[in-house]
Amino acid sequence: MDDPAFAVEADLQTQSILLASANHDIVALRHLLRNSSANVQDDETGFTPLHAAIASCEPEDPSHQVNGQSNGFTNGNSTEQVSEERKQELEAAVKTVKFLFQNGAIWNDLDRNDETPGCIARRLGLKELYELCVDAGVRAELLLSRLDGYLPLGDADSEEDEDENSEEIEELEELDGDKSVGGAENDSTGQGIVETGDESTENTNYLSSTLTFDRNRILDGSANGVMMEWETTLMRRSAELLLPGTGLRVLNVGFGMGIIDGIFQEKEPKHHHIIEAHPDVLKRIKEAGWYEKPGVTVHEGRWQDVVPGLVEKGELFDAIYFDTFAEEYKALREFFTEHVIGLLDPAGGANQDGGKFGFFNGMGADRQVCYDVYNKIVEMDLFEAGFDTEFSTVAIPDLEGEGEWEGVRRSYWKPDTYKLPTCSFIG
Ligand SMILES: C[S@@+](CC[C@H](N)C(=O)[O-])C[C@H]1O[C@@H](n2cnc3c(N)ncnc32)[C@H](O)[C@@H]1O
Repeated sequence: MDDPAFAVEADLQTQSILLASANHDIVALRHLLRNSSANVQDDETGFTPLHAAIASCEPEDPSHQVNGQSNGFTNGNSTEQVSEERKQELEAAVKTVKFLFQNGAIWNDLDRNDETPGCIARRLGLKELYELCVDAGVRAELLLSRLDGYLPLGDADSEEDEDENSEEIEELEELDGDKSVGGAENDSTGQGIVETGDESTENTNYLSSTLTFDRNRILDGSANGVMMEWETTLMRRSAELLLPGTGLRVLNVGFGMGIIDGIFQEKEPKHHHIIEAHPDVLKRIKEAGWYEKPGVTVHEGRWQDVVPGLVEKGELFDAIYFDTFAEEYKALREFFTEHVIGLLDPAGGANQDGGKFGFFNGMGADRQVCYDVYNKIVEMDLFEAGFDTEFSTVAIPDLEGEGEWEGVRRSYWKPDTYKLPTCSFIG
């Protein structure tokens, strides 16, 4: 049974840490964190020290608060003139937040208001504090994805070694301040704060679930949005950038509602390959006569199984688009790191500026701070994989206000802008 005296002492310690964080008192924090964690949480508010350090910067006069739109950052003051006192307060907050991250604070813990520390910084218009949270998220996610790649190199025969490895990773996760373990999905469930144990969003489960096809959307067996008509603007813009002319060779991975494939068809491609894995979608592809369209080849199966055969045959494309569902970011990364090189014609054939690769950029899009974190990560990974990427910005309408999410398990898109990537080989 818990010792009540110990519980009271632990709570006092938590309150002292939160107070020192809110007061930006680094001297006190240094002392308190010697034998305590930077990830304590207030029972009532769910505040961590990071939440407290950022939330205490809220101006007393609410009219001085900005609403944190993507370009709406000021210093939390509506007037151009930031007082000396305010400047000092914000400088102290920056130092405190940096100190907490150095001491292992987790960047994406949620408070009872469903906000991460970065969400609060954004809501209050505190750009520098927001950027610190984004950078901490990038560091944490990069480290974890590297660890993910490092694990299989261990001696898989030894259970003891595996246990040690997982313990090591858990410790590093604590240290680096993250808990989502590279679980962000780049699909319509694109979640930055991973809901662990949601098996409906795993690829194999999804592929065996029954889909519902409405006029303007596809839902899976758990009412997750697989594809929705509001994405048509994004699909059209992507298709235009990838296939600027007619008579080109295009590969699309993930048919969904066939929106982008329909737009590709308008460009009368010479070859139009489609890879699709879900039997219900394949049935509709067949019924709609796609197999008979000139130049179209439909490959039935998961891209993981189909792509090696295409490479073996030496098929080359002027443009490739990738938009699957219920796959983690590492699947997308694997696709562009290992497979695009064998499929995309660097000369671009008839595509004057060289072959182009595009994908649905939806990682972490259920929360602005996560979207910003994953956009930085994907940009770095694309560069490392040898791509030059141009991002164009597309405005997203008020999906909530337009009732788009009614009947959908969770809204997978929150940001008011979409960063549309177009990639070509460097050099
Ligand atoms: C978001 S939808 C694609 C929407 C499409 N871009 C459009 O314009 O309508 C994702 C599609 O990828 C398919 N898919 C999911 N996992 C796949 C995999 N591993 N290989 C191939 N297709 C997959 C799904 O069945 C679904 O049809």
